[in-house]
Amino acid sequence: MKKDVNIDWSQLGFGYIKTDLRYISIWKDGKWDEGKLVEDNNITISEASTALHYGQQCFEGMKAYRTKNGDIQLFRPDQNAKRLNNSCKRILMPEIPEEKFIHACKQVIKANEAYVPPYGTGATLYLRPFVIGIGDNLGVRPAPEYMFCVFCSPVGPYFKGGMSPVNFVITQYDRAAPYGTGAAKVGGNYAGSLLPNSIAKSKGFADCIYLDPATHTKIEEVGAANFFGITHDDKFVTPISPSILPSITKYSLMHIAKHYLGLEVEERDVFIDKLDEFKEAGACGTAAVISPIGGIEYNNKLHVFYSETEVGPITQKLYDTLCGIQFGDIEGPEGWIVKVD
Ligand SMILES: Cc1ncc(COP(=O)(O)O)c(C=O)c1O
Repeated sequence: MKKDVNIDWSQLGFGYIKTDLRYISIWKDGKWDEGKLVEDNNITISEASTALHYGQQCFEGMKAYRTKNGDIQLFRPDQNAKRLNNSCKRILMPEIPEEKFIHACKQVIKANEAYVPPYGTGATLYLRPFVIGIGDNLGVRPAPEYMFCVFCSPVGPYFKGGMSPVNFVITQYDRAAPYGTGAAKVGGNYAGSLLPNSIAKSKGFADCIYLDPATHTKIEEVGAANFFGITHDDKFVTPISPSILPSITKYSLMHIAKHYLGLEVEERDVFIDKLDEFKEAGACGTAAVISPIGGIEYNNKLHVFYSETEVGPITQKLYDTLCGIQFGDIEGPEGWIVKVD
């Protein structure tokens, strides 16, 4: 009999719900073990683990989607595997073979199938793969052992508004240094974002926007999401910088804008004093999907794009096409969808 988990799917926010099983694999003596599913959601590691002291850890965020006919599918998991490995390389951790990564994700989804939200609720099963340096070590050096885990949790929208516009504020804090770890998904980037995030929230904004760390003149990231804008002549524009996390959603939207919506696409500098060039703007990411940006506050002035209450038509089309592909209603480009069976 199928397990009943008694969750009100339509009320889900972006929070942790403990599911039944998670995957753990250990790297020791130069290789990964086979890995296994475990029940305990607590992990026991050495007090001297590099993950705890020197931030030697990285992670991913991805989702499993339930389609109309009840299937479960992943969206571009190979891209998450590649990005995790880029993060691992940046902080001297061993890489995870792509097949091992995808197999681990599939095992976790299947073992927690009851937690994959039904089609039509807008909710999904969020997967959190991560790698941490473990084992006894004191000085600043790479760990002697590593742990690769994947857990999951059913989630609803990341920003409270979901697909309604929210406002953001420019912060003077930086999330990454020009040649630092901004392009890697390492925990330290997020620790540094907690204070600016809480300041933005205390002022009533959904999150803050980071400018480029070298000149503070160009938009880099919208909290834990990438930025895009639609120009008055219908170009999809998104910032380029070595300290931005390369968002899989952003690159997917660039493809969708070009090949499904017929828009021109530009990855280039977006200057904070030239927001007038955009008629619509949004934040995009796995968790946020697309969050329309109502306005951005900079130097105490709120710049409103399309509207503070209505979603712009191009943002809406991008959202509908992206979600249509993710939930299996629209055919995606080859290789984007991986079935979990
Ligand atoms: C800092 C940051 N930027 C952007 C993104 C969006 O990336 P993706 O679309 O791959 O989820 C994320 C989330 O992973 C993030 O943490």
